[in-house]
Amino acid sequence: MLETIKQTADYLKNKIGEIPNTAIILGTGLGELAHEIDDKKEIPYTGIPNFPVSTVEGHSGKLITGTLGGKKVLAMQGRFHYYEGYNMKEVTFPVRVFQALGIEYLFVSNAAGGMNPSFDIGDIMLIEDHINLFPEHPLHGKNFNELGTRFPDMSEAYNKGLRLRAMEIAREKNIKLQHGVYVGVQGPTFETPAEYNFFRVIGGDAVGMSTVPEVIVANHAKMKVLAFSIITDLGVIGKIVEVSHEDVQEAAKIAQPKMAEIMRTLIQTI
Ligand code: HPA
Repeated sequence: MLETIKQTADYLKNKIGEIPNTAIILGTGLGELAHEIDDKKEIPYTGIPNFPVSTVEGHSGKLITGTLGGKKVLAMQGRFHYYEGYNMKEVTFPVRVFQALGIEYLFVSNAAGGMNPSFDIGDIMLIEDHINLFPEHPLHGKNFNELGTRFPDMSEAYNKGLRLRAMEIAREKNIKLQHGVYVGVQGPTFETPAEYNFFRVIGGDAVGMSTVPEVIVANHAKMKVLAFSIITDLGVIGKIVEVSHEDVQEAAKIAQPKMAEIMRTLIQTI
């Protein structure tokens, strides 16, 4: 595993040149943030040694380097979801490569269903914490001490300093920013009303099919994490309607410029 990670990191070092200190994972319908990256260079996943290839519509599958808000970044357009059939080592492989590159900050975005009754479709939720309900853990198996400790602390999985800064920026820019707990599930089904209710009862504000694995590995790697959910549908009793992948993509697209604005401003300062 260590050799594979190193091989991919070496390949990217050659392609990228100066290594940024921030990586961004763009979620469903949120790939358009990539349009705001200047002096872009695109590296399709298909050409990257050892990288899995993304299969879902709305995830085009490439790494993008360039500048966002004047700062160099490395963005993943298209992530690897567990429901696609990848195992957790594959899902989180890009984060290991970011670690090997020496990247310090990981920004993550996703589309999610909102269980908190005060949420509306199109809201942005700053993730404060998560509940991991995936059936496989990304750190299951032999621990490589070179990558991180056997029993990683998760008391502040989403960096508090970054969260406070994001809230401050949202306030300054008059962007409505919700905050809450993200429940990570395997999908690919959306939830039944009883499941949404269950996730609310156990302390969740939003539910989605990604993010938690990458955030766990980023914490194992001692990276500082900031993550946002775009609320694309509601899992609130009385407001639950039929939902499709297209609805999710559409709602995410509408909210994404506001999320991009927060990310861009924040990246300028780190
Ligand atoms: N549930 C799970 N994943 C999701 C949802 C949802 O309601 N919306 C977008 N991704």
